[in-house]
Amino acid sequence: MRDKMNNVQIGVDYYPEHWDESMWEADISLMKETGVKVVRVGEFAWSRLEPAEAVYDFAWLDRSLDLMARYGLQVVIGTPTATPPRWLTTAYPDVLPVFADGRTFHPGVRHHRCYNSRSLRLFGARITAELARRYAGHPAVIGWQTDNEFGMLDCHCDACNEAFRAWVRAKYDSLAALNAAWGTVVWSGEYGTWEELTVPYGGSPHQNPSLLLDYQRFQWDAVVSFQQEQIDLIRQYCPEHFITHNFHSYPQRLDQYAVGAALDVASFDYYPNTSPLKQETTPYSGALSLDVTRGIKRRNFWIMEQLSGSPGCWMPMWRTPHPGMIRAYVWQAIARGADTVVHFRWRSAVAGAEQFWHGLIDHSNVPGRRFAEFAGLCGEVNELSERLKGSVLQHEVAILHSHEQKVALDIQPQAEGFDYYENIKLVHRSLTKLGIGCDVIHAGEPLDGYKLVIAPSLYVLDEPLAAQLEAFAAAGGTLLLTPRTGVKNPDNLCVMSPLPGLLSRAAGVTVAEYDPVGRETHALVDGEGRTYACSQWCDLLTPDTAEPVAWYGDDFFAGIPAVTANRFGAGQVYYFGTFAEESYWTALLARLAGEQELQRFAGLPDGVQATVRRGPGGRFLFLLNLNRVTQTVTLPAGYRRALGGGEVPAGELALAPFGVEILELPE
Ligand code: GAL
Ligand code: ZN
Repeated sequence: MRDKMNNVQIGVDYYPEHWDESMWEADISLMKETGVKVVRVGEFAWSRLEPAEAVYDFAWLDRSLDLMARYGLQVVIGTPTATPPRWLTTAYPDVLPVFADGRTFHPGVRHHRCYNSRSLRLFGARITAELARRYAGHPAVIGWQTDNEFGMLDCHCDACNEAFRAWVRAKYDSLAALNAAWGTVVWSGEYGTWEELTVPYGGSPHQNPSLLLDYQRFQWDAVVSFQQEQIDLIRQYCPEHFITHNFHSYPQRLDQYAVGAALDVASFDYYPNTSPLKQETTPYSGALSLDVTRGIKRRNFWIMEQLSGSPGCWMPMWRTPHPGMIRAYVWQAIARGADTVVHFRWRSAVAGAEQFWHGLIDHSNVPGRRFAEFAGLCGEVNELSERLKGSVLQHEVAILHSHEQKVALDIQPQAEGFDYYENIKLVHRSLTKLGIGCDVIHAGEPLDGYKLVIAPSLYVLDEPLAAQLEAFAAAGGTLLLTPRTGVKNPDNLCVMSPLPGLLSRAAGVTVAEYDPVGRETHALVDGEGRTYACSQWCDLLTPDTAEPVAWYGDDFFAGIPAVTANRFGAGQVYYFGTFAEESYWTALLARLAGEQELQRFAGLPDGVQATVRRGPGGRFLFLLNLNRVTQTVTLPAGYRRALGGGEVPAGELALAPFGVEILELPE
């Protein structure tokens, strides 16, 4: 039954507890008629499932799930632990997180829960066990979502203090080792007893960066162990069901890889920006989010919440999705490895904090334009479902991503405008525009099969990772490194050797001096004399075995190497001493694509994306125009339309605004 997570299909998020029971059957039969296959329920429904301590009421959920079963719908149940009910927070206030200044995070709408609270653990495990036991054999239920959108809370409650102390103690064993690892001698921060050690309370605007990085790691472990208690129970009662979690809004401080490790499949909540003002960036940042999600488990994934109407409430409302946008962005998700796409939500809420985050059906309960588009989409996905099943993306390029880098760089911002994730976005966008597919994977993952690996700012670098990357290049791979590589050891202390530290040998270059130029724009000149803008950071490079391939064109460092390439074993290592504008990346990556014969769909116009899924049902090229104007691509002969069938003549193919073409390639 876990195999059901591999179906390509459409779902909806539905809250039976929000609607009068007399509406359920009409809703569910309309879902069925529309072609919906999956419904997510239950996350947030704690007060209805357990109205008072140890008093359970599953009758209503039974009735709604029975109806769904009767209509042949499959169900994913979310554990409701993101919304502790009032009886719990009143009788057991230790559930509530505490801010650094001692204020309590009182119940507002949700997420008022500390992952380390003993009461949350106890009652969270109980409700999870009750649910898992009850629905283990229900014919509609196929899987589970743990909690909802885990995030970092930076809690400062007593339980967190105690747990943090135990965590640090387990890691360092002795106070002497702790003081050495965190360098607490600087400014008299040494700990003399374990009781002196607390979570960072704030007040003082600055804190020891080693403490702050370990505090993050501690929180990652807290989320992982909180989730693991639920996973253990679900696995115990429902060994046949799959387990997922819905990640959201990247970049996250949460370590998605650590949370994802125990899941069967990762999910993402995908709300691309609907504003035409964001049209140039939204399709590309969305593509990156999807690639990041595929990288969490290095396999296909789910979208657990997908754009359905105008988003709002947490901010003034955004534009309603333009005609075609809902459909096109679902196909974009599938094109990048989503199997099931679940829409948030069936109908807009008439009550609560989120009344204006619109669903597929408006408050009026009259299905309109967006619903009609959704219905058409369901038909298309169902038409291709069988053939797409089991198909995957295969790429020759990887970008290495790491929450550890992001967090460490956020703790000590390096220069104005220097943003770890924005820098990843730029490289990823450049690759996507070039039509070069890439994976975004956790730094440290095996690199087999990749020809080109881009490793932005490996600021905290340990020996195993450096050795792995050296070996990758030595064996014939091309490795691209950027500024702020090898700066810190895992304790977040600066290393006392020339940068890029542990990767200096492979890069064949050292940083003689650096200049955090921030938002200033400087000049970068390539071997052909073309000038590009660069900013954020300028490493002044001294090549050892490397060859310069670009130089600075201005300021006191004019003429000094800015980018170098080093032959290393059978491969090569590029070191970028600065962050160049996108057109430089594009020129360089296009050249590398030629040299390395990377698979590529060349000639994509603005906003058009191309990806390929291959599997037992064939090879499918997805061409998506995520744009409000018609765009044209040029195709060779031999393609057939997967939807509806029919040959596509060689030559120009026009893609309407938000147009989608799914083409079958001959084997
Ligand atoms: C997600 C969340 C949903 C809903 C949606 C719209 O972050 O999981 O429950 O709130 O956003 O705001
Ligand atoms: Zn806490």
